[in-house]
Amino acid sequence: MDFKEIIAKLIVDVLQDENLNENEIKEYIEIPKEESNGDYAFPCFRLAKILKKAPNIIADELKEKISKQNEFIEKIESVSGYLNFYIDKSKIVENALEKFNLQKEDYGKQNIGNGKTVLVEYSSPNIAKPFHIGHLKTTIIGNALYKIYKNCGFNTISLNHLGDYGTQFAKLIVGYKKWGEEYNLEENPIDKLSEIYKRINELCEEDENVLEECRETFKKLEEGDKYCVDLWNEFKQLSLKEFEKIYNLLNVKFDSYNGEAFYSDKMQEVVDLLEKNGKLTESQGAKVVNLEDKGIKAPCIIQKANGSSIYATRDLAAILYRARTYDFDKCIYVVAEEQNLHFKQIFEVAKYLDLNEKYTNGLEHVSYGMIRLPEGKMSTRKGNFVKVEDLLNEAISKASEILKDREIENKDIVAKQVGIGAVIFEDLKESRIKNQVFDLNEALNFNGETAPYIQYMTVRTNSVIEKAGYIPKKEDVNTNYLTDEDSIRLVKLIENFGKIILASLEKNEPSIIARYAIDVAKAYSIFYNQNKILSEDKISQDARLYLTYMTKVTLTNSLNLLGIDVPNKM
Ligand code: ARG
Repeated sequence: MDFKEIIAKLIVDVLQDENLNENEIKEYIEIPKEESNGDYAFPCFRLAKILKKAPNIIADELKEKISKQNEFIEKIESVSGYLNFYIDKSKIVENALEKFNLQKEDYGKQNIGNGKTVLVEYSSPNIAKPFHIGHLKTTIIGNALYKIYKNCGFNTISLNHLGDYGTQFAKLIVGYKKWGEEYNLEENPIDKLSEIYKRINELCEEDENVLEECRETFKKLEEGDKYCVDLWNEFKQLSLKEFEKIYNLLNVKFDSYNGEAFYSDKMQEVVDLLEKNGKLTESQGAKVVNLEDKGIKAPCIIQKANGSSIYATRDLAAILYRARTYDFDKCIYVVAEEQNLHFKQIFEVAKYLDLNEKYTNGLEHVSYGMIRLPEGKMSTRKGNFVKVEDLLNEAISKASEILKDREIENKDIVAKQVGIGAVIFEDLKESRIKNQVFDLNEALNFNGETAPYIQYMTVRTNSVIEKAGYIPKKEDVNTNYLTDEDSIRLVKLIENFGKIILASLEKNEPSIIARYAIDVAKAYSIFYNQNKILSEDKISQDARLYLTYMTKVTLTNSLNLLGIDVPNKM
């Protein structure tokens, strides 16, 4: 049952004006911020023009006409042009319980995505370079979006567009040839490779011959020279092994690791298509696409003066490949806002590749703001970076410290769930575009707006149910026991779960679910403190226990959608 729909129908029915339709009226109906203003409000100024009357008069007249004819509505008030609707409380509860009962453990699952394919590209770190805290953020946001789309019925595919191509690999190969024996790449390979990279770069600056050697090596690599390709593969495998450690900690998986190198032999088609469509122009020897008429000043470079391809060209080849391979309806890129221009450019250029509009319309850059640790910007170049793996392990050990005196089984597992959950939630709780200072201590505050707080509340719901020893049947719930202020606030929140998920999907914004989970956890905490759940009175116990069960499922599913586990005890 959709109360907004019922109200809209009532309004349209009594007004009998052909200029009004139910859907439009429904759109206008609001949920008042103040609970004292009712459950729903209709702002009558929306109709003033059509009906040629003042809003307060419309509100008065509507009130008169509607009040008499509905079983769901307890009371209607006309207040300064607003029509406030108070729904019969037990009807609200009944409705919410019924909705929940249809899905139970699956509460929140949707099917709007059935038959559609979404590609979620995220993480995409660079081989032989550190996985930095910005990569952590795309990994966490991307994984949440992956789960949210999947939850809504989409055929969802996760892609890791590895940065595994470019002249730096040639440099690494030359450096490794020179000094490889000095380094044991098996331990901390990324640190070692970074060191080699730094060293060879310095040498290149001093010695033009070495630079030339690197250029030639790159050509060999591109031509598939066995020695070079084997080494490149080894660097890649070593890096991936390092990245896997992080992915395992976060419980993140990818369906494809096709990175930039995968597209290196698929770029000619891009050049040819652009050429054929008359879009390529010469600029200082380079081939570029001018985008000025699209409002983008900087041209998109497709081929450098020396004939070599660039990042953008590989992304364009990837779009062609993905369209053909996956026939996607949507392809989203979770990449930092620093690359806004890049994505604007390639999405425009993609329109010149003779692709069906379905594909070019489905491309979307989901960007996010800068993230840094309290000490200063995390950057590979500046050298003051923290290893993400260390950060995650520190979160786990801090969680383990907090939990050390508690009597729980499998403390290691719980510490991991809490520590990792804390990091994930901290990265998701604000809207993604906001710049962020990542504070691990704040993330682990059990009384803050954090994962541990929500996990703790979820565990509490669980132990209440365990203590009772049963989950009541919906049919046994007397809804009148859930109409007090604290219960109904929780009921209404839970009822809204589906809309929250759809809103977060629509905006590609996991923070909407994160904030929601905080609200539900807080509402349960108040409900729990104000109401005796387990009691002699079986009728009251059944009602409150059922609401506890609804809360448990809603919180668990919210956290899972964000990529966060719920411990059994904590
Ligand atoms: N490897 C890049 C980086 O670390 C991100 C790749 C983003 N994805 C893309 N399709 N261009 O900055």
